[in-house]
Amino acid sequence: MGAQWGDEGKGKIVDLLAQNSDVVCRYQGGPNAGHTIVVGDETYKIRALPSGIVRGTPCVIGNGCVVDPEVLIGELDEFERRGHPTGEVYLSGNAHLIMPWHLAIDQASEHRLGKLAIGTTRRGIGPCYADKAMRLGIRVQDILDPKILRQKIEVALAEKNLWLERVYETEPFDLETVAAQYEGYAQRLRPYVADTSLYVDTALRDGKRVLFEGAQATLLDLDHGTYPFVTSSNPVAASAATGVGIGPRRIDRVLGVTKAYVTRVGEGPFPSEIAGPEQARMRELGGEYGTVTGRERRCGWLDLVALRYAVRVNGIDQLALTKLDVLSHFAELPVCVRYRTRDGSEMRDFPAHQSDFHAAEPVYEVLEGWDEPLDGCSSVDELPGAARGYVDFVERELDVEVTLVGTGAERAAVLSR
Ligand code: IMP
Repeated sequence: MGAQWGDEGKGKIVDLLAQNSDVVCRYQGGPNAGHTIVVGDETYKIRALPSGIVRGTPCVIGNGCVVDPEVLIGELDEFERRGHPTGEVYLSGNAHLIMPWHLAIDQASEHRLGKLAIGTTRRGIGPCYADKAMRLGIRVQDILDPKILRQKIEVALAEKNLWLERVYETEPFDLETVAAQYEGYAQRLRPYVADTSLYVDTALRDGKRVLFEGAQATLLDLDHGTYPFVTSSNPVAASAATGVGIGPRRIDRVLGVTKAYVTRVGEGPFPSEIAGPEQARMRELGGEYGTVTGRERRCGWLDLVALRYAVRVNGIDQLALTKLDVLSHFAELPVCVRYRTRDGSEMRDFPAHQSDFHAAEPVYEVLEGWDEPLDGCSSVDELPGAARGYVDFVERELDVEVTLVGTGAERAAVLSR
């Protein structure tokens, strides 16, 4: 799972771990995620399917996910076309469907918020989870029965059209058009619908290795993130159990994925954000543009206060540190080790209250940079001294082992201990 604000390179780590997994599951989020995996000359950009699909590992989209059928079908078609069979994709009947009004409301509500906007991906994620909580949602299993599907669309539209017209002053949706569109999706998706909780439970009972792939990240978590600048689901590790339908004691290990620096898309406080031209330099070097939205990502130095918090709320026992190669181009590497608060005191632990976080100033320890490229290294021990020093520093400060280090976009560019 992501230990920062997302875009840590989880897709690539999942792709690596999927080699030794029998099942890969997504447990929350939807097509707001964007995982990029590079295999030789081929680049895969995945939003809805678990990243394990690239390896041909059986994949589960759990009940905690929200599904945009158009996006999912697009991905299924593309993977089939590129020679990856999708016969072992299992879609939970309890996952919720993103409907056209969710996209429209996401757009309209961000527009209305103006300067106070969350900066969402505008994929309808928040409105879809809100309807789930309101018990007005439409679930994947509803597509199994055209009559039920139509009825549910009708009930939802009676309310949503009022909102769209009266509150947001936008166009309403036509029942016939939406019903016909979703009946079309139903034909294509029906074979994938499965009891995914039972499937995963059976796999675990059979001694199979199941990997749970987080989307978004700790600081975007609805409960534990920097609310309200968060997503509408729970990316933290514990949510893997509820989002797939297994007990929490079935989880053996939690691997947090963190970049060697920090990025954030969208609005909200970001203490270690780099001021000045070095931010643009890091963005260029790291290719920090959103996979889903193409937006520029904000860039900052590694923040160990936030990372320590991620270790706590997820129970992380191993870290993957990605994109260490991007730092090769900086002579000095500030690392945020504490926050200075308004009263001048310093804290190592993440502030519990938003005002303290908003006002937090980073306290840096400056580590030595390195000039050597990292692409010749084949293990963590072969890293240049200062790069090893950087990894060791993270381990020491957090008391968590860094078991994987990313040194490039290529599949092979991940070093292990
Ligand atoms: P939403 O998930 O589209 O509602 O967006 C809410 C917040 O989460 C915004 O700040 C988004 O930029 C952020 N967000 C959502 N998904 C991702 C992701 O996969 N990577 C990084 N940020 C994300």
